[in-house]
Amino acid sequence: MSNKTVSVNNGLEFVRDGNRPLVQDIHIINGQTDLNQLIPFKYNGEEGAPWQRYLDSLHNTWHPEEISMQDDIQQYKGGALTEAEEHLLRWNISYLASADSLVANNFILGVYEHITAPEARQFYARQIFEEAMHTHSYQHIIESLGLDDNGNSMFNGYREITTIADKAEWNMSFTEALADKAVTPGTEDANRLLLYDLVAYIVFESIYFWCAFSHIFAMARGGKLVNTAEQYQYIMRDENQHYLHAVWVVNQIKKEYPKLWDSHMQQRARGIISEAVDLETAYAHDCLPDGGVLGLSVQTYIKYVQYIANTRCIQLGLKPLYKVSEDPLPWMDDMVYIRKEKNFFEKRVTEYRTGGALRWD
Ligand SMILES: [Fe+2]
Ligand SMILES: [Fe+2]
Repeated sequence: MSNKTVSVNNGLEFVRDGNRPLVQDIHIINGQTDLNQLIPFKYNGEEGAPWQRYLDSLHNTWHPEEISMQDDIQQYKGGALTEAEEHLLRWNISYLASADSLVANNFILGVYEHITAPEARQFYARQIFEEAMHTHSYQHIIESLGLDDNGNSMFNGYREITTIADKAEWNMSFTEALADKAVTPGTEDANRLLLYDLVAYIVFESIYFWCAFSHIFAMARGGKLVNTAEQYQYIMRDENQHYLHAVWVVNQIKKEYPKLWDSHMQQRARGIISEAVDLETAYAHDCLPDGGVLGLSVQTYIKYVQYIANTRCIQLGLKPLYKVSEDPLPWMDDMVYIRKEKNFFEKRVTEYRTGGALRWD
């Protein structure tokens, strides 16, 4: 039997010492257990627990190339989009094309080694696969519509368009801080950096992405880019699980380590969400320069950003930031929570051979 100290982050130390992991040693962070063993389960059996979310996510498997882009290709190449719609589409994909890689990097390089619950790591492994599918989906859209006829402008957009670079850089700063080799998992400083990062990526996956999806859904409601919207629906269903998992992790850390969620942390978490709303507001004026497109005015859009930000505050147990109580884009809620998708764009949802027919859980 070995007496050596167990590292909280790599799961290598238990090999050959013969100890079996005990449930009471497993914690969401700072756990002293063998991270290579999924059993004994600790975070299993309740709705929203990582193991349940992992199992649910397996039923949502889909593939971007199984969604036909034919109608959109005809429409786009036939010049059906107005100048404002074309601008919005390009600014939208310029943000999204590289965004899912930033999320994957954040979990692989930053978050993963701080999380000491094997079931939660299992979900992250699945999430990272899904982020790759999402990047694939944007590539499929870009190639189908021929948006990159001017070189690699879409994937490089997050470096070329200032308001997008500002958002990307802001998120990457959290990853960079957490992934710094000087940060030792399990320490108070590391735990605080982890919480900042998790909040910043809840913003990324469930405020920035929600807002970006609304651009395309608004156009699809008017009969344009319906195939692209369908791709986005599948992505959104996955993102819904990703951000709910992140909220679960933050709330679980609060439960297990209540001292970490002190007034300073709560203030900082609200500050992070508010910084994000400011960046999205600047981007809103840039992607909707003439006041918006049909069904999506710039003012409605900004109100929507604030409304979602308030919702995320509440989910994290924080005081809302803005005086917006009514959802300015209620149809977005339908997209996530109600099974209206089969006739939402008045088209049939493709039945997938992978068994991932669209279902919002
Ligand atoms: Fe994603
Ligand atoms: Fe995601």
